[in-house]
Amino acid sequence: SEPELERHFEQVIERDQRIEPRDWMPDAYRKTLVRQVAQHAHSEIIGMQPEANWITRAPSLRRKAILLAKVQDEAGHGLYLYSATETLGADRTELTEKLIDSKQKYSSIFNYPTLNFADVGVIGWLVDGAAICNQVPLCRSSFGPYARGMVRICKEESFHQRQGFELLMTMMRGTDAQRRMVQDATDRWWWPSLMMFGPPDHDSPNTAQSMAWKIKRHTNDELRQRFVDMTVPQAEALGVTLPDPEISWNDERGHYDFGEIDWDEFKQVISGNGPCNAERLAHRRAAHEDGAWVREAAAAYAAKQHT
Ligand code: ACO
Repeated sequence: SEPELERHFEQVIERDQRIEPRDWMPDAYRKTLVRQVAQHAHSEIIGMQPEANWITRAPSLRRKAILLAKVQDEAGHGLYLYSATETLGADRTELTEKLIDSKQKYSSIFNYPTLNFADVGVIGWLVDGAAICNQVPLCRSSFGPYARGMVRICKEESFHQRQGFELLMTMMRGTDAQRRMVQDATDRWWWPSLMMFGPPDHDSPNTAQSMAWKIKRHTNDELRQRFVDMTVPQAEALGVTLPDPEISWNDERGHYDFGEIDWDEFKQVISGNGPCNAERLAHRRAAHEDGAWVREAAAAYAAKQHT
């Protein structure tokens, strides 16, 4: 009976065990997961664009090979995550259509342009660094397929983070012009990276329920603070200045204080008015439409094999 199933579901959550696709789950739990995992998948796929922008212009064969592999990894992450949504009964084609019709979100961060090659390094360092901070706790998410998918994604994500840092270290040992490029990219990506963690806790409608269900393990502000604490010493090691004069160690709190985020900018970006939203979606739509013949051919081939 439904009350028994519900009690079982709650016990599984309470004991820190995993909910699996065939288990009973409340409709709202399923809906929240599809929302979050689909948004995550879309972010991985849209996130290929800003970096792919530099593949043809990477400064050496080695950097080009690294960047190609990295962008390919992002495609793989998107595919694992779409598979996880399918275990919840979602349909991949429908999700893609919702993305290109702006009915589902993807991360705000991918709506900013990549203006110079240092951006590739800064995306690895800050954007993938923030992604790891947010995603490592998701390896303990209560939904089994999502949690297991996140283990592999996080391993690759931390490799990406290190390649970004290594690229920036190389540029910082280079010419004054290269050092200026790294500082410029850091200045442009710092604040948007902090926005990746989502709205402040008092303005985050989904956090309380997602924490109770152990879909999320920490609040947006907790993870943002963890990211700042981790990144300030890395900026010092690199020799760049973070564009926030209010960053200072707070002995009492045992954390770095930092300045106020421009939440109006965040709201603009997530409602479709960021610098690159239109371009990102137009590109994604064109890729989907151009790929229609491949999907048709694959389906026809599969049908033929079947008969
Ligand atoms: N960009 C776009 N939308 C965002 C962002 C962001 N940075 N942060 C929050 N939002 C959206 C939420 O999706 C939600 O909108 P919705 O209800 O229409 O779906 C709304 O803003 C309110 O936010 P919250 O109540 O805080 O939402 P939630 O509990 O889902 O927390 C978070 C947001 C932290 C992003 C969570 O969904 C999460 O951890 N997702 C998994 C990680 C992920 O998606 N990463 C993608 C970027 S990393 C990468 O791909 C390299």
